[in-house]
Amino acid sequence: MAKTELIIIIDFGGQYCHLIARRIRENKVFSEILPYFAKTSEIDGFREKYDLKGIVFSGGPCSVYEKNSPAVSREFLEYVEKNNIPLLGICYGHQLIAHLMGGKVVPGGRKEYGITEISVDKKVGIFKGLSSKERVWMSHGDNVTDLSKGFEELAHSDNAPIAAYRKGDIYGIQFHPEVVHTVHGKEILKNFVYEVCKAKGNWEMGDFVKESVEKIKKKVGSGRALIALSGGVDSSTAAVLVSKAVGMNLTAVYVDTGLMRKNESESIEKTFTKGFDLNFKLVDAKERFFTALKGVTDPEKKRKTIGELFIRVFEEEAKKIKSDYLVQGTIYPDRIESGIQSAATIKSHHNVGGLPEKLGLSIIEPLADLYKDEVRIIAKKIGLPDEIANRHPFPGPGLAIRIIGEVNPESTRIVREADYIVREEIEKTGLDKDLWQYFAVLLPVKSVGVQGDARTYCNTIALRIVQSKDGMTANFAEMPWNLLEKISTRITNEIPEVNRVVYDLTHKPPGTIEWE
Ligand code: XMP
Repeated sequence: MAKTELIIIIDFGGQYCHLIARRIRENKVFSEILPYFAKTSEIDGFREKYDLKGIVFSGGPCSVYEKNSPAVSREFLEYVEKNNIPLLGICYGHQLIAHLMGGKVVPGGRKEYGITEISVDKKVGIFKGLSSKERVWMSHGDNVTDLSKGFEELAHSDNAPIAAYRKGDIYGIQFHPEVVHTVHGKEILKNFVYEVCKAKGNWEMGDFVKESVEKIKKKVGSGRALIALSGGVDSSTAAVLVSKAVGMNLTAVYVDTGLMRKNESESIEKTFTKGFDLNFKLVDAKERFFTALKGVTDPEKKRKTIGELFIRVFEEEAKKIKSDYLVQGTIYPDRIESGIQSAATIKSHHNVGGLPEKLGLSIIEPLADLYKDEVRIIAKKIGLPDEIANRHPFPGPGLAIRIIGEVNPESTRIVREADYIVREEIEKTGLDKDLWQYFAVLLPVKSVGVQGDARTYCNTIALRIVQSKDGMTANFAEMPWNLLEKISTRITNEIPEVNRVVYDLTHKPPGTIEWE
């Protein structure tokens, strides 16, 4: 069997690194992101397993001449040249290649940020089939001003005298082809993949299921596996993939924390007991969670309490089951975020973190190379219902972090009913397709109202409806007034404890999406 084609992306801290990997995969070539300090021996390791077609150097926020700026060694480039591996440098990557190979990079004077026009002077290689003028996305302060022997200039702009160059199969471009603002960015990357790297495009999502089932079979054999199923798309897909390989030797434990949305536990139980070949075990831990959460109002304490109790409940079940393997629904961005980039901890995200070390089981992560939308495609292929495959994000601590104040059966019921109305009304209109999340938050604020002829003094519900690409930033959504009115009217009519509904008009940043 032919080896899978691969393009490696070296991460210099660029914010669009993931996007580059995505675009390469869209061209049917597998891609993997490595940190800038990756060694050539690691590249050799990949070449044994894959058919390495090329390497991309990402952008990054530093300047190449700054002390301690991220860089590969001169030997790394020699290795690339010696092995005839096509290379594409983007933005910082473009400057770094020029710098390491004897060219000149200087502070640009005028920074260029946003959409710019470049003149394509030679329509060759990555520029094949493009126009003489192209609109591209620039974001840089430094400029390549001189190249060493053997390089040819391919494009320029008003502020970037050398906006693109090449030397053999080594290319550099000052702009970002991976973002949508570069009008023909997709064509440029496609040219790199097919014209320069000469890839055939032999990586398909469809092959993934077959290959990963085979791999799991080989690894687990007749051993037993265990998974904590949350009902989200990642853990559900991981569970079904493993069940295809080991059948009833997989036990999926679903802990009902009492903090799930309306009808959710019932629906998960129905899906997994009826449709798939695995042991499904529902653990009713509602009372334990409500007892642990009594009097807890601090958001971080709430998250920790839930996370820790979850681990304890799951551990108790794991002990009963005697498993060899723990399956986790980790996906590619989870791995990259914790492995390469360092982000400030804004909130502690407690899902099943901390489980592997405690249980001492071998880990299986069948989705570790996939992006979220790729997981959704697989989910559909393996027969998970649309409501799971298309599920919007839902936080590990569940409704608890949408109750400001104490979480108890009563407050959970109120926010759950409101959440149900919000979802039902928005989904009826089809507007949910353009939204990242839409939900209700219960505030510990009472206000005066009038219902019938009587004075009321009741709770407030805030509506949080946001658009986002990845959850890192978000905008509050502009919703039709009549829809908001309908939601508000239904909430105040159907939930006697609520007499006021407000709309959250905060972007992220400064607000986070969840309120706690
Ligand atoms: P924030 O509130 O930080 O959330 O803007 C960003 C995205 O992450 C989701 N979120 C979580 N997801 N476990 C998760 O799996 C968690 O503990 C958690 N907390 C927040 C949130 O719903 C949003 O989509």
